[in-house]
Amino acid sequence: MKELSLNILDIANNSVKAKASKIEICVTESKKDDFVSVDIADNGCGMDEQMLLRVIDPFVTTRTTRKVGLGIPLLRQQAIDTDGHFDISSKPSKGTKVHADFRLTHLDRPPIGDIASTVVSLIFASPDIRYIYKHKTDSGSFMLDTDQVKEQLGDIPLNEPEVITWLTEYINENLQCIEGGKI
Ligand SMILES: Nc1ncnc2c1ncn2[C@@H]1O[C@H](COP(=O)(O)OP(=O)(O)OP(=O)(O)O)[C@@H](O)[C@H]1O
Ligand SMILES: [Mg+2]
Repeated sequence: MKELSLNILDIANNSVKAKASKIEICVTESKKDDFVSVDIADNGCGMDEQMLLRVIDPFVTTRTTRKVGLGIPLLRQQAIDTDGHFDISSKPSKGTKVHADFRLTHLDRPPIGDIASTVVSLIFASPDIRYIYKHKTDSGSFMLDTDQVKEQLGDIPLNEPEVITWLTEYINENLQCIEGGKI
């Protein structure tokens, strides 16, 4: 079973490939309402309606190394299989939004995985992209905005090893505070 954090990595990498300069990742866990949801929004090249209709089909891809794209169809199937929902909307040259939610207590619901590593590896790979990561639980929420981090860092690059370590710890500590990332 694929972890949700790896799905987030796949979907956000689509946004990177779509030349987004801003990518928002929002994870919501609710034990109270029995769901976990993932929202990823970018301001990349987007897709027209025809492409959007085809994109949930696993045999559609614009990549040339392999003939099938799997990121979107897999996430969609996982959400549907756990009594959840999947939604994708997109506008050419405006961007794309992907939503997936899962029933938290469904036996087949994938584990959340290592969210901090996912977010940090995305930032490390493309430090020029503005990442906004929000995480909500029943006990609270927190946000990481790489533009704010950059402001604090001044001349130090975002993908400096010390910064990466600090970011990972920062996310994990905040997750702990809101009792998130453990499902
Ligand atoms: N955020 C996005 N913005 C623009 N186009 C997108 C976006 N996400 C997906 N697409 C388009 O949909 C296609 C299918 O995406 P999908 O993730 O399913 O497969 P892939 O990225 O082609 O291959 P894989 O994820 O297996 O490496 C992509 O090739 C791309 O053309
Ligand atoms: Mg992909």
